[in-house]
Amino acid sequence: MSKKNQTLGEFIIENQSSFKYTSGELSRLINSIRLAAKVVNHEVNKAGLVDIIGAAGETNIQGEDQQKLDVYANDKFIQTLTNRNIVCGIASEEEDDFIVVNSQDENHQNKYVVLIDPLDGSSNIDVNVSVGTIFSVYRRVTPVGTPVTIEDFLQKGSEQVAAGYVVYGTSTMIVYTTGDGVNGFTLNPAIGTFYLSHPNMEFPEDGKIYSVNEGNYIHFPLGIKKYIKYCQEEEGDRPYTSRYIGSLVSDFHRNMIKGGIYMYPKSSKNSNGKLRLLYECNPMAFLAEQANGKASDGFERIMDIQPTELHQRVPFLCGSKNMVEKAEEFMREYS
Ligand code: AHG
Ligand code: MN
Ligand code: MN
Repeated sequence: MSKKNQTLGEFIIENQSSFKYTSGELSRLINSIRLAAKVVNHEVNKAGLVDIIGAAGETNIQGEDQQKLDVYANDKFIQTLTNRNIVCGIASEEEDDFIVVNSQDENHQNKYVVLIDPLDGSSNIDVNVSVGTIFSVYRRVTPVGTPVTIEDFLQKGSEQVAAGYVVYGTSTMIVYTTGDGVNGFTLNPAIGTFYLSHPNMEFPEDGKIYSVNEGNYIHFPLGIKKYIKYCQEEEGDRPYTSRYIGSLVSDFHRNMIKGGIYMYPKSSKNSNGKLRLLYECNPMAFLAEQANGKASDGFERIMDIQPTELHQRVPFLCGSKNMVEKAEEFMREYS
């Protein structure tokens, strides 16, 4: 039984046996993500200080430039996962191709591949607004002991064994699922420990918040335009309220707690929207479904889409079940 105030470390150990392929490998993987998250958190928290420290002459010994935070986060997550020989492959939004990880032990028996968006919402960094990291885990489909191939990464979202995000917000949290509900852990920065603060997170069935970049309104499909107007009409319990941070992790996190829908539809500018199926939509869809919510491209369940390429984009509607279903209704009616 999970207990509030349990540490993430304790929670991982206690829940290891409930995971159907128990071998400790997935637990080690979540542990590595926890470690990388702390390192990135430390760097994100001093983002505003970088120039000040630089001006004081604190360049590093090799005279290297301060790395941009999304490159930094990418390097940290990849380093942590490869150094500890926990996965057999990694794909990242920041890398053109996937990375083959060869374990040092002779048979390299690692079974999992990880896909990450190391820094989500990175345009928010400069203005001190929450950003995040998104991760997604699959069992490889090619034989253990051989180098991973593209097939291991192009799996449907329904094959995920774990997914989650880190939100570097007013407090830093890790929220993840291994297919048995969604739990959230908050970092106590004084001692560097994550505690279970949000057990069994669930989207309210219905909500009042819609999150969409309305600056793109004129380019949206008619179904989305009509749905937005529906949200704005004054009738009964409506109008709804609009909240858009521009960082998927933060928008999703708020909507899961309060009830809402996040939308990044296709537009006349981007025929598949903007968000990436493998690094953003699938992990968020898995979390949403595990939390009693829903995720669709307007017509089809996100996790049923067969990916064809690593950096594929897809329209994304995600959040409280009734709201997503309503938006789908409009999409069907006006497509
Ligand atoms: P990333 O920083 O990883 O490129 O992702 C940004 C994404 C997502 O987090 C956010 O919701 C969306 O892009 C915002 O896009 P717009 O600025 O077009 O609204
Ligand atoms: Mn992103
Ligand atoms: Mn990113």
